[in-house]
Amino acid sequence: ALKLVIIGGGSSYTPEIIEGIIQRQDTFPVNEIVLVDIEPGKHKLETIGYLGKRMIHQANANIKLSWTLNRKEALVNANFIATQIRVGGLKARAIDERIPLKHGFIGQETNGAGGIMKAFRTIPVLMEIAKDVQEICPDAWIINFTNPAGIVTEALLNYSRHEKVIGVCNIPFNTQHSTAELLNAKPEEVQIEFIGLNHFIFGKKILVDGENRTEEVFDRLINREANYTPANIMPLNWSRTFIQSTKLLPNPYHQYYFQTETVLQKDLHAYKENGTRAEVVQQLEESLFDLYQQPELNIKPKELEKRGGAFYSKVACSLMDSIYNNKNDIQTVNTHNHGTITDLPNDAVIEANCVITKGGPKPISIGKIPAPVKGMIQNMKAMEELTIQAALSGKYEDAYNAFVMNPLIQDEKKAKVLLDELLEAHKSFLPQF
Ligand code: G6P
Ligand code: MN
Repeated sequence: ALKLVIIGGGSSYTPEIIEGIIQRQDTFPVNEIVLVDIEPGKHKLETIGYLGKRMIHQANANIKLSWTLNRKEALVNANFIATQIRVGGLKARAIDERIPLKHGFIGQETNGAGGIMKAFRTIPVLMEIAKDVQEICPDAWIINFTNPAGIVTEALLNYSRHEKVIGVCNIPFNTQHSTAELLNAKPEEVQIEFIGLNHFIFGKKILVDGENRTEEVFDRLINREANYTPANIMPLNWSRTFIQSTKLLPNPYHQYYFQTETVLQKDLHAYKENGTRAEVVQQLEESLFDLYQQPELNIKPKELEKRGGAFYSKVACSLMDSIYNNKNDIQTVNTHNHGTITDLPNDAVIEANCVITKGGPKPISIGKIPAPVKGMIQNMKAMEELTIQAALSGKYEDAYNAFVMNPLIQDEKKAKVLLDELLEAHKSFLPQF
């Protein structure tokens, strides 16, 4: 018997994870799910709660589902805790996206100034959650989807007392599936040697049933829109020169760094047409919740795939399943480096292929970072460290350092303009500053 607590249970994504748990009943017997949210999310929480109950009933599953605003009570006897919160909600995300864009910078949920601000709002709250977990259910695993997932996971692993924390993202999953599609292979036959950080991960080598098909993937990828680009990112393509020179498989988030001007123009255009992604998501959420309220709906609706995070629960559920069953299979998750990548600090959190055991993820040794992206990955990691430092200290200088060292900001004067405006706009969610 297992208990799963979902913090941020009122999220429109929750039906995904409930579906994942229902589908795994035979191997991963969760029989209690508690959804936790905060007062402003109460209405959404109830809607999700009733939908979840209908899904469980429809599937004839033996799961007790409840919901509450009392986190501490919910955590009693928990085995797994999924964290999927958005401090300040989509309103705060819209600010993260709009203000940088207004000043001619990329405005994005997890990249550039917006990503740093999201970390500032989120890290203190997750530190509190980890503290509760440590006190109430110290043996439980925290499975963190909260963005920026890599940074948040590093903050928890290095600065909270709770050690059982794993960060997850759907990008490696999407990459495996899109690569399978390119090669007409089955996703489970495709193995990608990944290297990097969350939303900054590259594929080094692609194996299909053990056979090296890397060259073929590169050939097919060139100048063609990658499928499986998550719904939140514009599908662009990569030039032959980029792929053939770096000999790496980029992910859609790399466009922000290596096609900055093109993306900026496209994003500005989209912004003028439809507002920020947060505003698009807000509308999407409204129609999703309308749907969720319909009493005859008793499965996860297809419409949820319009969200960029679609399929994240497959990742989360197979991770929990493998921990519980000590499966020793390979999954790509965010965990401590511990020498996996020799060019990064041991206590850095990386996104890596890991053997999943009941003692947690054991990263598979990688070695050096490929020369073309070595500097960039080290820069990104250093910037992440500065971000965590600032989120915890609340010092202006720390925050400024993170901003100016972010490759999407850099300009020393504009960094200050951006930071000042963002700190002011997010004041109510940044008690540490
Ligand atoms: C991607 C990322 C997630 C992110 C999501 C945004 O899939 O991996 O970390 O949260 O997109 O999607 P949204 O629908 O909120 O724009
Ligand atoms: Mn992600």
